Amino acid sequence: MPNRYQMKFSARLRLVSRPALSWLTACAIGTFCPCADAAEAAPAAARRAELIALVRQDCGSCHGLTLNGGLGPALLPRTLNDKPADSLKAVILYGRPGTAMPPWQRFLSAAEAAWIVAQLQKGFPLEK
Ligand code: HEC
Repeated sequence: MPNRYQMKFSARLRLVSRPALSWLTACAIGTFCPCADAAEAAPAAARRAELIALVRQDCGSCHGLTLNGGLGPALLPRTLNDKPADSLKAVILYGRPGTAMPPWQRFLSAAEAAWIVAQLQKGFPLEK
């Protein structure tokens, strides 16, 4: 036979648990759902400026300062437009093993890599 405290506690639990559970579920979906908008949202203005500098300087050290090609191939609309954005994004995030192209996933999110690919395919912006 449960004592009074246990009875009161389980009654309280019944009242609290349902809304708490659905709140937790909503929270988990918001955080982990890959379809959530935030996962692929374009980077904010300040971060975009950093990404432009990164591509012009770091990527440019191999792909040419005008992205016209060097050790790595040209990253221009005419060389990239016919290639699927998703595979270019994967090359940026994971590199091309066995080549000089390094992985950038420690420095770039998937959304940021996708943004870079979109800019490269339409002509990469100059640093301000
Ligand atoms: C150390 C040199 C190096 C650096 C730095 C570098 N890349 Fe590369 N990248 C390469 C090479 C070499 C290849 C060609 C790999 C191959 O032979 O398939 C390549 C390939 C690529 C491709 C595929 C191009 C295509 O036509 O399929 C993309 C996209 C790319 N790099 C983007 C970037 C971006 C963006 C950065 C900076 C975040 C970057 N790379 C930095 C060397 C580099």
